[in-house]
Amino acid sequence: MHQRLLTFIVLQMATLIRNELLTSEQRYIALCLRSVIRRNFTPGQSLIVSFPKSGCQGSQTSPKCDSSQLVNFVLENTHQDVLWPLQVFQTEFLNLEMSDEQLRIHHNYVIFTWPEEFDVIGTLVTQLEKLQSVVSWNPRAKFFIVVTENYISPANILALNICETMWNINRIVNVVVMVPDPDYPRLGARIHILNLYTWFPYEAKSCAKLTNVVLMDQCLPDGDGQLSNNALLFPNKIPNNLQGCPIRVSTSELIPYVISTNTYVDSDGSTVYNYRGLEIEYLLLLTEAANLTVVYLPLAEGDVKDTHLQQLVEVSMGISDVAIGHFPLNSILIPFADPTITIVFDDLRWYVPCPKPVPRVEKVMGLYTLPVWFCIALVFILTALTFWLSANAPNITLVTESSTYRDMLQCICVVWCVSLGTPVPKMPRSPKLRALFTLLLCYCFVMGIVAQAFFVSFLINPGYHNDINNFDELVESGLVYGKEDSLEFFLRLADYHEQEMFRSHVDCSDRHKCLERLFVEGDITMLSPIIDVVYVLSHMGMAKIKKVLCTLNDNVFPLDISIYLTKGHPLLDLFNVAIRRCTESGLVVKYWSDLIFYTNLQNVDRFKERGCEVCSDMYFVFTLSHLKVSFFVLVFGLVVGFIVFVAELVYRCRSESHRLSTSKYGH
Ligand SMILES: *[C@@H]1O[C@H](CO)[C@@H](O)[C@H](O)[C@H]1NC(C)=O
Repeated sequence: MHQRLLTFIVLQMATLIRNELLTSEQRYIALCLRSVIRRNFTPGQSLIVSFPKSGCQGSQTSPKCDSSQLVNFVLENTHQDVLWPLQVFQTEFLNLEMSDEQLRIHHNYVIFTWPEEFDVIGTLVTQLEKLQSVVSWNPRAKFFIVVTENYISPANILALNICETMWNINRIVNVVVMVPDPDYPRLGARIHILNLYTWFPYEAKSCAKLTNVVLMDQCLPDGDGQLSNNALLFPNKIPNNLQGCPIRVSTSELIPYVISTNTYVDSDGSTVYNYRGLEIEYLLLLTEAANLTVVYLPLAEGDVKDTHLQQLVEVSMGISDVAIGHFPLNSILIPFADPTITIVFDDLRWYVPCPKPVPRVEKVMGLYTLPVWFCIALVFILTALTFWLSANAPNITLVTESSTYRDMLQCICVVWCVSLGTPVPKMPRSPKLRALFTLLLCYCFVMGIVAQAFFVSFLINPGYHNDINNFDELVESGLVYGKEDSLEFFLRLADYHEQEMFRSHVDCSDRHKCLERLFVEGDITMLSPIIDVVYVLSHMGMAKIKKVLCTLNDNVFPLDISIYLTKGHPLLDLFNVAIRRCTESGLVVKYWSDLIFYTNLQNVDRFKERGCEVCSDMYFVFTLSHLKVSFFVLVFGLVVGFIVFVAELVYRCRSESHRLSTSKYGH
């Protein structure tokens, strides 16, 4: 510490010896600034130094030039002294190329200002506009404004003007202004006392209305640059209780995120809005905790896209403080407003109709694939043929085969009997045929077991048609795409164009109607956040039935919802803390599950009226209808049997009478 001080003094002397350009007042400003930087700025973080364009090329004697000598001196010494990253931001050096360094937001700003082309305020505005134009700009950082010359008395008027400018430009409140007080020249050497002013936006119910500045501290010329009170210059300016200050909110109804509850015209003739809903709940909880009064701005006209745009415009112009109502956390919006941390974590997914159950008859036919059916038939035919051939082969052994196996038709009948598990009229006699017969028996036994196992399980639950798993299958399925303009707008911003592959689309500006259609009729597909889907299901009385929810496995997009505040708004941290507490405690989750539960309860009747065959998965009653297929086959078999019986009877009668007639006339 002492060594540093020593270095500083040596340096200062060196400068003094090198050139006499710094006045004693400037050296004293530099000393004060040095102690402020040391005490109040976080060590190690980069320090942005901004100063107006100096007009010093050539003439080295103008008063402007003096001030830039001061800046040079301060820069040089601060750098030697603290060894923090120092970044000089002069209005001329604006670089449009973005480097990684610029993407890191800054936390400390020192702004030198003096009257240049305009007065001090005009110069400051130009400087701030330039500072604002880079990505790393942070209106919530610590701002220390050094005014090098001031002839306005009393000094707090200039400080007030500067604070006002900072607030209006970017809602900057963490600002300390160091102004020379023209009323207190001391030491006869025309060195002024330096006054340090700031303001407190939410003190004494002022509600961010700037009426006066507070003298924080003073830097006296004889104090060796130490502040007289040694006060901390950047205290927390946001109290925990905001004393009922109003907070203006732009929103419009967007069920279930923002649900309008009660709108009425009060005695003054102005409309009063009231809202609940998944997102508003965060706002209500945090305003209650911080003792803020919510004032909803009048509604915007138009569809979701228009209202979103208007709300964003209002919040970015400072007409309102907060924009709420399904605003995604998206870098596209960040230049216009400041997002809070995520309040709703959601996903955009493709919802598709769930696969339909397969009819039982169709499933039974599909027991084996076609080639397998053919193979089975081939095996039977070949077996019958082998029986017949080997029975009719020239007999080497002494055993003669029974006549059953020497007739081709009989052979087929035998095979058929074995396959159905019914007795055959005669067993084969020769060992060769017996072996073959045993083989057939085993084969039929195995195939029968397999078939029966499948058959019974199909009777109970025939399963479903193939489901749609990925986007290509979805496009091929020929489903109609439910197109929603506001969502489409965001998809285009996010550079997502897959939905253009659909051949036809229907208008889905009412997302909830379309979702209902998807769940009831199953003839469209659409991209939707899960929250909406859950809400629509509860509105159909089907919140518990997850079987109707089918989504694609690919093409899932995280959709984080935030609240947006005016850029630089001082309450952002308060919002973030409150939101984090609400999320951690699950207060909003409880609200949401209550909402879903009661909505579902109110609509259960609607669901019961409509009925739903796939919905119940509790237990399964095995009724006559499930055995329909078996009875169908049985009846078919009986009919065929009866026809064959009648045919047999007719044939028999015919041949009998024929034989009778031949015997009658023949003998
Ligand atoms: C909120 O602010 C109002 C207005 O100042 C005050 O009367 C009230 O007591 C405050 N409420 C709480 C809980 O502090």
